[in-house]
Amino acid sequence: MAGRAVTTIEGLTEQERNRWAEAFIAHGASQCGFCTPGIVCRLVGHERKGADLQDRETVDRLLSAHLCRCTGWQTIREAAAEVAVDYPHRDLEQASLQASLEAGTHQIVGPAVVLGEICFADDQPPDGALVAIRNDAGWAVGETLHGARESTGKVQGRRTSMESRPPLELPPGDWAVTLRTGWVEPAYLETDASWCAPSGEPSNPIANGGAFGGKTDSDVSEKAKSMAIENGMPVRVLWSREDVVRYGIKRPPLSAGLRADGSGMIRVVKTPGVEEIIRSVLPRCEVEQIEVAGPPTSVALRAACWAEAEMLNTALRGFSDWVQAPSGARAKAEIDQEVIKVEVSGGTPLDLVMFRSYCVGAAHMAYSWVTSESLSVDEVGEVHDLTVRSFGVLRSSDSPHIEIVSVGEGEAVAVGDAVFAAVAAATWLNRGCPSDLPTG
Ligand code: FES
Repeated sequence: MAGRAVTTIEGLTEQERNRWAEAFIAHGASQCGFCTPGIVCRLVGHERKGADLQDRETVDRLLSAHLCRCTGWQTIREAAAEVAVDYPHRDLEQASLQASLEAGTHQIVGPAVVLGEICFADDQPPDGALVAIRNDAGWAVGETLHGARESTGKVQGRRTSMESRPPLELPPGDWAVTLRTGWVEPAYLETDASWCAPSGEPSNPIANGGAFGGKTDSDVSEKAKSMAIENGMPVRVLWSREDVVRYGIKRPPLSAGLRADGSGMIRVVKTPGVEEIIRSVLPRCEVEQIEVAGPPTSVALRAACWAEAEMLNTALRGFSDWVQAPSGARAKAEIDQEVIKVEVSGGTPLDLVMFRSYCVGAAHMAYSWVTSESLSVDEVGEVHDLTVRSFGVLRSSDSPHIEIVSVGEGEAVAVGDAVFAAVAAATWLNRGCPSDLPTG
């Protein structure tokens, strides 16, 4: 960067910061907020040069350098197009409650999130804390991140040309419907991180938002605590993007064959709790768990395995219908001329903007998963796609428009998983239910 200037979000004018924060809040264009300051900086940079931010193609192009995994892009495009609007006051406490309901953990909604003023797990450690990162033998500890990285001798990963394919063969049989899913990355943005002082408690790796369940089994806090005690100093434990891909949990790949009466066989990568989940939707199916070399799997990830079971049900039925999540929320989706239309029943939303934002994000994630996402994992279980760009997450330019209608009343419940399952089923149906994901 020698000889160049870098403007971060702190370097924008007060007026720019206020306007963009308001627009992002008004449209629910930020959830966890990890991606947001970078996106705002890019949009402001081009706004200053006179870019037409009401033009979808222009904004799509600007967003192609970013990944927002939470919002599904649409609300960001809306905020960019309406950044000059004067927005009415809204109760952000209610918005925060709605977001927390969806995230399954406390989540802030407000200018501090958009402007990068909230602390993520690795923003908080004291100066001088040691840094611990993973290496092949365990952990490398250094006085700085650079030092710790150097001692591992690791080079940054890259996208592989190795083909990704579902790891389980279909069960033999004469099936009406078959489905094989492969390895995919949840792709939450804030990588696992925690820090701890020798006599303290470790920081929470979930700073703002739930990582779609992806950090449920993360051991970074435990490691930070034990290494702080061992070294007698505060220690930051950091996972790189590659570490998240290699060691973070994935939804269990499966292969399924179903007869028209709903009986059949599902093979699934061995995972605690998976059998009960599949059988709760497909009670007439046999479930066989198979050991497969690969990254760890968990049913803690968004709608893991019951969304797949709902897709199979939908394929057998031949049309989209309501699906019900364990939270009690229900959703029904259809794809109509490349528009995803979703009806959602999850009680009376506490805040309609954040309700819609989470529904759009879940719908985008489902559509992207079914049509585009995969991870290459070789026969000995090593992951080869190690960069954000290699996960296949659909870019803004390739994302269909999403319409959300709330039809619920009564006590509000989390709706994201129901929307995810309904949109996954509708997307697969729309693509003609080919056996293997992603469908393209
Ligand atoms: S709000 Fe963009 S990644 Fe979470």
